[in-house]
Amino acid sequence: MREKLLHTAQVKALINKVAGFEMPEGNPRLKKIIERVVTDLMRTIEDFDVSPTEFWAAASYLEKVGQSHEMGLLVPGLGIEHFLDLRLDQEEREAGLTGGTPRTIEGPLYIEGAPLSKGEARLDQDPETGEVLFMDGQVKDSHGNPVPGAIVDVWHANTAGWYSHFDPSQTPFNLRRRIETDADGKYKFRSMLPKGYGVPPDGPTNELLAAIGRHGKRPAHVHFFVSAPGYRKLTTQINIDGDEYLHDDFAFATRDELIPAITHHTDTAEIHARGLNEPFATITFDFTLHKEAADLPAAVVERAHAA
Ligand code: BEZ
Ligand code: FE
Repeated sequence: MREKLLHTAQVKALINKVAGFEMPEGNPRLKKIIERVVTDLMRTIEDFDVSPTEFWAAASYLEKVGQSHEMGLLVPGLGIEHFLDLRLDQEEREAGLTGGTPRTIEGPLYIEGAPLSKGEARLDQDPETGEVLFMDGQVKDSHGNPVPGAIVDVWHANTAGWYSHFDPSQTPFNLRRRIETDADGKYKFRSMLPKGYGVPPDGPTNELLAAIGRHGKRPAHVHFFVSAPGYRKLTTQINIDGDEYLHDDFAFATRDELIPAITHHTDTAEIHARGLNEPFATITFDFTLHKEAADLPAAVVERAHAA
């Protein structure tokens, strides 16, 4: 058996220097994190006998991920964004906070500043072929009382699975709106039933997923940020029941409580009553927010958004 270099005084001294432990300046916590990450990487190289050629292929791969702006795809694809959610859930449970609408990942496709309206909105502004969706519900506190004046910031893909802003064929803010809840805490919107998203087939995320035998598909879903003064911001999604990837999401965002019943309406009188000529779908989904408190982990996740 070959000696593990990682256990030698020479490599231990190397890591010590790499992490900046010999310098008085710098951030002590960051030094420890760098020490851990570098040690784990060296351990991986040793344990899997990674050759220099393989290592540099991995380094080039990460460069390509950055150049393609796919960090926001790779992170959820590797389960890390869901893991961060699980950690926030755990911290909240430990602080005694349970119940409420579960959080799930934000994903990389949010754009700030969607048009704001009171009570209701129509999300689809570009012509689409597909099934019209009417969604409504109420924002409540943990005692079931309505939260008027909450902002329901909603965004989703179009009927081909693409998001406005990232898809140049759509107009700005198509399928993105902010809706302020009415005096009863209610919101409603009209839109088009989205199709599930898939990572770019020729991009580096798909390259890695394919290399480990996975796909880069998500079930159809609708994203929400729900916020109100004095309440913890909720980042969540609902999934469209019946989607083939419902329990096979490459980003691991599906949660059982986030699969509301969907009703497909085919009755001609109902269709005409909505001013439509084709069958449509309805979903009702209520959001329960927790009151903000000093001893809880930050519910607002700061991250860069495309603009
Ligand atoms: C999405 O929400 O559509 C999404 C989430 C993670 C990675 C890519 C897309
Ligand atoms: Fe999405």
